[in-house]
Amino acid sequence: MARPRIWITRRLSAATLERARRDYEVLLDEEDRPRTADEIVARSAEVEAMVPCHSEVLDAATVARLDPRLRIVANHSVGVDHCDLDALGGRDIVVTNTPDVLSEATAEIALLLMLGAARRAVEGDRLVREGAWSSWSPDFMVGTQVSGARLGIVGMGRVGRVFARFARGLGMDVHYHNRRRLDPLEEAGATFHDSLESLLSLSNFLSLHCPATPATAGLVDDAFLDRLPHGAILVNTARGALVDEAALVRALESGKLAGAGLDCFASEPGGNPALAAFDNVFMLPHVGSATRATRDAMGFRALDNLDAFFAGREPGDRLV
Ligand code: DGY
Repeated sequence: MARPRIWITRRLSAATLERARRDYEVLLDEEDRPRTADEIVARSAEVEAMVPCHSEVLDAATVARLDPRLRIVANHSVGVDHCDLDALGGRDIVVTNTPDVLSEATAEIALLLMLGAARRAVEGDRLVREGAWSSWSPDFMVGTQVSGARLGIVGMGRVGRVFARFARGLGMDVHYHNRRRLDPLEEAGATFHDSLESLLSLSNFLSLHCPATPATAGLVDDAFLDRLPHGAILVNTARGALVDEAALVRALESGKLAGAGLDCFASEPGGNPALAAFDNVFMLPHVGSATRATRDAMGFRALDNLDAFFAGREPGDRLV
């Protein structure tokens, strides 16, 4: 029987490509870069399935132009804000993502950002690297203590819960706001707040773990930041769209925020030069899930979803 034809839009891990080529007829472009809407539309006429990353935008206009040959979009990402799910569902195209497998890696990066921003990693690294570390005094490079501090988590999903576990290891007092209250086992001692306002008012550290949707776009605005205690630190490993970056710059300028740790930006790749001007902003280039083990697991999870679909079963991570 002919193997289904699939298009893998980016150079996924070697283990993923090996397995994909074993089970499918794989189209993979030579050049590894985000694919344009026209390329996506053209490829949709050649394959039954595509495996995109968050770099491939499937908005309503693109989805409307997809060829009916394409039956499933098996994302190699947990976030699906690059996909218009309603439009894809309206075209009877199945959509899946890769939850769970990147929670630990992403929570590691949240931890790194929180510690890096609190303990002034950017300034410290620069001083040593540039040979400019010439003195010591009792108030030299004094930062914010993380252990024992209060952490607010917005969005207590998979990544949020792993991050809460890591934070407990640091003796942090963990609070959260979520659409629903978790059961006590999942909560593991974290305190639920049914309003965001109540969470913000006591969060010395505030970490974002909710998806970017039309409802959460620009969630972190002036009013949000004003509610945080003076000297708070913001951490974002979720999506850049959650943050009004001009408001974030204002909060850093005024000293309202003592720092920020950011893995996501409104504009990617690239980031925001206005944020890069602050030494107390610790930044990474969207690497939350970037470990070898996690990238293999994401690729395998996307292929598991394809395998189920082509075997006539319900893909485990079906969203639409
Ligand atoms: C995800 O899976 O959503 C990560 O941000 C990487 O794409």
